[in-house]
Amino acid sequence: MANIHFCSYLWYTEYEMARILREGVTMELKKPGDNGIDSWREVTLIYNAALKQMETKMEILNEEFQHVHQYNPIEHIKARMKSAESIVKKLKRYGYDSTIENMVNYINDIAGIRIICSFTSDIYRIADMISGQKDLKVVATKDYITYPKESGYRSYHMIVSVPVYLSDRIVDAKVEVQIRTVAMDFWASLEHKIHYKLEGAAPAKIKNELVECAKLIADLDERMRIVNEDILKLGEDL
Ligand code: GTP
Ligand code: MG
Repeated sequence: MANIHFCSYLWYTEYEMARILREGVTMELKKPGDNGIDSWREVTLIYNAALKQMETKMEILNEEFQHVHQYNPIEHIKARMKSAESIVKKLKRYGYDSTIENMVNYINDIAGIRIICSFTSDIYRIADMISGQKDLKVVATKDYITYPKESGYRSYHMIVSVPVYLSDRIVDAKVEVQIRTVAMDFWASLEHKIHYKLEGAAPAKIKNELVECAKLIADLDERMRIVNEDILKLGEDL
């Protein structure tokens, strides 16, 4: 990939970086009411619409893939909107006031979609299909599969900007896309539960055990991918 900015595991394309610096927030909101509630409702509506669009796009890609290749790359999809409480908590954690503008600017996962597939190879196939959609802009990607987190976390993340067509204008809304295998998802939900229950203060023994499990899962994913490829090859030879 040419012309990319590297910042931790976050890649911005040159074009997107320039656009973000030039235009800042692209979401143009109507004037907020006295208490900001009108804006909040409007923002929720916009993110919900973006999320629905992403969900439908993924379902269509999966159905088309099944039609062409007789194979479903996607096992299942989960979509969720971040609660107001979590948004406020995150803004506080980042050191920002709880305003609609800050929320639109700094919180990338207000709308989130998780795509679960069988094999690691499916993950990159889906990511490529998302990147190839002309109306979507990939703002950033994080490849925690090639570069797993210290915790052992593995997943492929994309921040995608989705155009939402309103009655009088088009607005862009960011959607966080997490793509991972069933095994990676199994690991992440257990790790999340422990993290949530123990508020990040898990004993070293549990943390180490999770890192070991993550390695086993990575190995399992790779072996399953190879077995699947062998099965496909056998099918071709018949
Ligand atoms: P957050 O502020 O936690 O959203 O992280 P970020 O903005 O730096 O983005 P990142 O891509 O690292 O993480 C986005 C999301 O991925 C998180 O909100 C979690 O849902 C998930 N995630 C990231 N790291 C971990 C991890 O170590 N364990 C688990 N279970 N989930 C993780
Ligand atoms: Mg998050």
